[in-house]
Amino acid sequence: MSKKDLWKNDTKLTIAIQKSGRLSEKSLQLLAEAGIGLSNGFRKLVSCSPDFPLEALYLRDDDIPQYVSDGVADVGIVGENVVAEKARGVETVEKLGFARCRLSLAVPRSVEYNGPAWFAGKRIATSYPRILQNYLREQNLTAEIHEISGSVEISPGIGLADSIFDIVSSGSTLISNGLKEAEVVMHSEAVLIARPGLEPLKRDILEKLLFRMRAVMHSYKNKYILLNAPNEKIGEISRILPGIKSPTVMPLAEPGWSSLHSVVNENEFWEVIDRLKANGAQGILVIPIEKMIV
Ligand code: PRP
Ligand code: ZN
Repeated sequence: MSKKDLWKNDTKLTIAIQKSGRLSEKSLQLLAEAGIGLSNGFRKLVSCSPDFPLEALYLRDDDIPQYVSDGVADVGIVGENVVAEKARGVETVEKLGFARCRLSLAVPRSVEYNGPAWFAGKRIATSYPRILQNYLREQNLTAEIHEISGSVEISPGIGLADSIFDIVSSGSTLISNGLKEAEVVMHSEAVLIARPGLEPLKRDILEKLLFRMRAVMHSYKNKYILLNAPNEKIGEISRILPGIKSPTVMPLAEPGWSSLHSVVNENEFWEVIDRLKANGAQGILVIPIEKMIV
């Protein structure tokens, strides 16, 4: 049976992906690790996966919510910042855990910043006028919003604005332009969005896509851990290892010792290792997980 026969008919899900930018590479990587190969879109506008009923459209990230809500694409991978700014009535299906950033107000380094009231009456350059306007309204502030589409960070330096409202990730763009972060207005990461009311066959493909994406994301967040422990410590060590259920315990050739296998979350990792060592664990091995189905 060919791969194609696994799928009921010719229905394909169309996914919008950023053509080039902060999200593109990781979006393609996530799909590739989910067993869905696609070309990189450098020369193409559209490409079809040979191994999954998915077709990719490579677009500017700012346009993705509109293409999804208009039905040109069924789903898309885009930053929450863009979803919030474009407000196109799309459904956020899953947070994808990459391209994390903040949307922040920033001011020249020399400014003595004393809180949001500083922005009253100031000129703020941004590509995110809607999110900024909502924030100013919440703060009961009035300011002049200058909407510009790129290189927002240079506008205070050339006298176009007093401050900016833009994406901050590492913060190096701010530093190299003599600016400092003043207020974090929103946190953002890549999300999978979908057109509400997708037809059942496409929903079905979306569910399969999500299942695979989640397996890959779980594997990013978890590590496989193996260790040796004296038998009298197995109870104690099992309580430290969260695992999916409880750890696998196997006897070692050396009497009185066992090997324990489990899964640990990346966030708890170092703390868990310290406690394992303190409880007599030896020969601790930590191995990346390729896929994880929970
Ligand atoms: C954003 C933003 C800054 C930069 C900040 O650009 O406009 O230039 O990232 O990142 P840093 O804090 O790590 O220096 P980006 O190319 O992501 O904007 P776009 O996706 O809207 O094109
Ligand atoms: Zn963009």
